Amino acid sequence: MLILGIETSCDETAVGIVEDGRILHSNVIASQAGLHAAHGGVVPELASRQHIRDMEPTLRRALSDAGATLDRVDAIAVTHGPGLAGALISGVNTAKSLSLALNLPLVGVNHLEGHIYAAWLEAAALAPSEEPGFPLACLVASGGHTDLVLMEGHGDYRLVGRTRDDAAGEAFDKAARVLGLGFPGGPEIQKAAQALDDADPHAHDGDETVTQAAAPLPRAWMRNTLDFSFSGVKTALLHRAQDVGLYPPPESETANTERLVSHLAREFQESLVDVLAAKLLAMAEQYGARGLVLGGGVTANARLRHRILSDSPLPALIPRPVLCTDNGAMIAAAAYYQYQRGEMADMSLDVDPSLPFSHRG
Ligand SMILES: Nc1ncnc2c1ncn2[C@@H]1O[C@H](COP(=O)(O)OP(=O)(O)OP(=O)(O)O)[C@@H](O)[C@H]1O
Ligand SMILES: [Mg+2]
Repeated sequence: MLILGIETSCDETAVGIVEDGRILHSNVIASQAGLHAAHGGVVPELASRQHIRDMEPTLRRALSDAGATLDRVDAIAVTHGPGLAGALISGVNTAKSLSLALNLPLVGVNHLEGHIYAAWLEAAALAPSEEPGFPLACLVASGGHTDLVLMEGHGDYRLVGRTRDDAAGEAFDKAARVLGLGFPGGPEIQKAAQALDDADPHAHDGDETVTQAAAPLPRAWMRNTLDFSFSGVKTALLHRAQDVGLYPPPESETANTERLVSHLAREFQESLVDVLAAKLLAMAEQYGARGLVLGGGVTANARLRHRILSDSPLPALIPRPVLCTDNGAMIAAAAYYQYQRGEMADMSLDVDPSLPFSHRG
């Protein structure tokens, strides 16, 4: 069964074509990151209008990359929430039009469930014996969410932990702004931290501000809960940046500016990765999970992926980075399992900017 998935919940216009929920035929993403970078974050009005421009070429390329035409497609899937209302409307209207014109079933997908189902696109490469069984401990860490979800079967979710303030991706984006790095912040922080791997470790020996910048930042363990909090480390980073003269941005760079930024970026990343990895593993143990699933833009982070793979006694399904950030293929993958359960939408499908995880467990 070939499903065409449409995703427009934020600043990516994305269309993916997936066979039987696992086999990736195409995945085309038109990112608006450049459009929003100048504003330091996504501007909803600009996002909605750009989706209108990008939708038709993205759709055509997804079909041509898959070597398919619309008459080969068996169902249309679309993100209907959570996300920005105006952005979601653009995808939902496109999906409804296609469904109506081609007389195809329509499936409305929860964006967060999509992030989880990106893992099934990786599972396609595994032998059935290698595939982790349910229950699965899932971490969805993205621009708007940081959720720990226990998945006891397809479509069966229990939210067991969540952030009480900023989402991890939001914290990365704000930290990058403090450090004068670009948007989105996660990849920029990762790059700045990685620069230390190639730098001369003794280049700034004796430089007190560099030593100060390289000290660990706090971790918000929040004992006895699987919830997260990232606002404390964000404030600690701001204070550290002020102390070493990086914030407010200095008029001119000094010889050690780049080094200071890299150290702060690394310590910030380490703090978030430590907590995200430890809480996911604690949750897996607490609930007797048989495997781990990662999803959402933050799980594209190389340090986080490395930590999970090296620390976890359980098999982990981690989508390749391009499937961690927003894409249409994950929506098509999730829709396949929904379709199997008979959960189809009709022409009354509406957007829901704050759609929660569906609770079936
Ligand atoms: N390598 C990385 N390291 C850390 N964070 C990253 C990395 N790559 C992307 N991110 C972060 O991921 C976020 C974007 O993820 P995603 O596209 O899933 O979020 P969203 O769709 O805007 O939010 P949501 O899924 O909650 O609706 C951004 O905050 C970005 O900084
Ligand atoms: Mg997302």
